[in-house]
Amino acid sequence: MEGNGKKISAKAARQAQAGMGGFPMQAIREVFGYLRRYRDHVFVFKIDDLLMSKPLFSLLIKDIVLLQKIGVRIVLVPGAKHSIDKVLKTYKVNSTMKDDVRITTEEAMPLVKLGASNVTNTLISLLTENGANGVVGNWVRARAMGVLNGLDYQHTGRVEKVDVNLINNMLEDGLIPIVPNIGWNLVGKDYNLNSSELAVAIAKALRATKLFFIGGDTGIPVVAEAGFADAGEKSTGFFSNLDLEEGALLLKDFSSSLKSDHRELVALAMDACAAGVDRVHFINGSLDGILLQEVFSSAGHGTMFYANQYDKIRSAKPSDIPEILRIMQPYVDDGILVQRSAEMLAAELDNFVVFKVDATVHGCAGLKLHPDKKAELYAVVVDGAYTGQGTGRKIVSYLLDKARKAGVKNVFLLTTQTSDFFMRNGFREVPLTVLPADLQAAYNPDRNSRVLAVQV
Ligand SMILES: CC(C)(COP(=O)(O)OP(=O)(O)OC[C@H]1O[C@@H](n2cnc3c(N)ncnc32)[C@H](O)[C@@H]1OP(=O)(O)O)[C@@H](O)C(=O)NCCC(=O)NCCS
Repeated sequence: MEGNGKKISAKAARQAQAGMGGFPMQAIREVFGYLRRYRDHVFVFKIDDLLMSKPLFSLLIKDIVLLQKIGVRIVLVPGAKHSIDKVLKTYKVNSTMKDDVRITTEEAMPLVKLGASNVTNTLISLLTENGANGVVGNWVRARAMGVLNGLDYQHTGRVEKVDVNLINNMLEDGLIPIVPNIGWNLVGKDYNLNSSELAVAIAKALRATKLFFIGGDTGIPVVAEAGFADAGEKSTGFFSNLDLEEGALLLKDFSSSLKSDHRELVALAMDACAAGVDRVHFINGSLDGILLQEVFSSAGHGTMFYANQYDKIRSAKPSDIPEILRIMQPYVDDGILVQRSAEMLAAELDNFVVFKVDATVHGCAGLKLHPDKKAELYAVVVDGAYTGQGTGRKIVSYLLDKARKAGVKNVFLLTTQTSDFFMRNGFREVPLTVLPADLQAAYNPDRNSRVLAVQV
């Protein structure tokens, strides 16, 4: 490896990457960037009970408790299908399914409750072992699924209502609510609920930031014919990100290419995102550390589903120029931004996007492609009247996405006063030598800007 004309040994290079004392500094910085972001946010976890017999399951619970310790509000919804199957088998009670839905008979219902309570007990034990307090409760009102096409589903039910206040009280007290797949109707009749539907209902009711489906699959396998998988996804075989439009297309045109449980998960994730849950993640809980990587790393694993958070962002048009100049001016006056004229802006307008609400530009930024799969992010500006609402983060993440789709590997930027904001959004300080040669030559030492970069 070459650096400043000097040879660096492979060991030194590795240490430089790992940081002082061999710590993975890059990863540690990334984690710090996310720490405050999720304080008091609600994360709902639907956990497949098949994982409970896996050797690493206790580590998964330990990681969930770690999230709680940094201020995330955790709700657990354990799946109980396999536990219920086991109990039914032990007591030799037959149970039939129709399209993956159990028909819960009068005879089976007590055993369904026993199966459900076995998984909640396992969770309580593991939470206690890790210094957290889980609490199981009846916070869900249910109703009968009823008779469909002549088939009576008996004790199989649907979620009618979630008692948000009661769950929030538990969260406020630092407890971890565990919501079993059993619900009661107004007159006390019990119903067997689908845990995935239950998790979505709870995430929607609590306005969760994240909903996790943790199972034994890595994610949603790529459907190549759909045409929206990028090169990275094609090589791993799993979608990394799907938005509502892509999810709808998968269900409409490529439904037969999905396994039935993936079809159900995509539909549920779309439902959750459309109702305001920021992100839905499908991850494989049998892999060590996967949850923390998903939360604390911009790379992520598994498949993440998100609503179109970019619907207010579009390419800039000539008619936006006066508005762009208007929102830039206060920052130019403060010496944060370089002065641009309308002509200069018009010449590079193709690089610019605006975040526009009705007729008002709230923010803008430019992305300029350079050779060697590099791109420059610049002039990221949010109108002072609208800062602190996530607009800057959305513009940055939109342009990083755009860069990735254009085949860019590294996005860099120069900043004098805003490095902390960009570091919170995944950028790291890098040496000037990372810049393309023409920009290194044009670097203004009087301005003394920091150089930051991120891999996309
Ligand atoms: C930096 C800027 C784009 C952020 O826009 P925004 O819409 O307020 O950003 P978001 O709402 O997504 O994020 C807000 C978070 O970033 C932090 N932040 C905002 N400006 C920051 C700055 N200059 N330095 C460090 N952190 C900053 C806020 O404190 C807030 O933190 P919180 O979530 O813990 O409360 C905006 O403040 C701005 O236009 N600044 C001046 C122009 C500039 O410096 N541009 C960069 C040069 S390329």
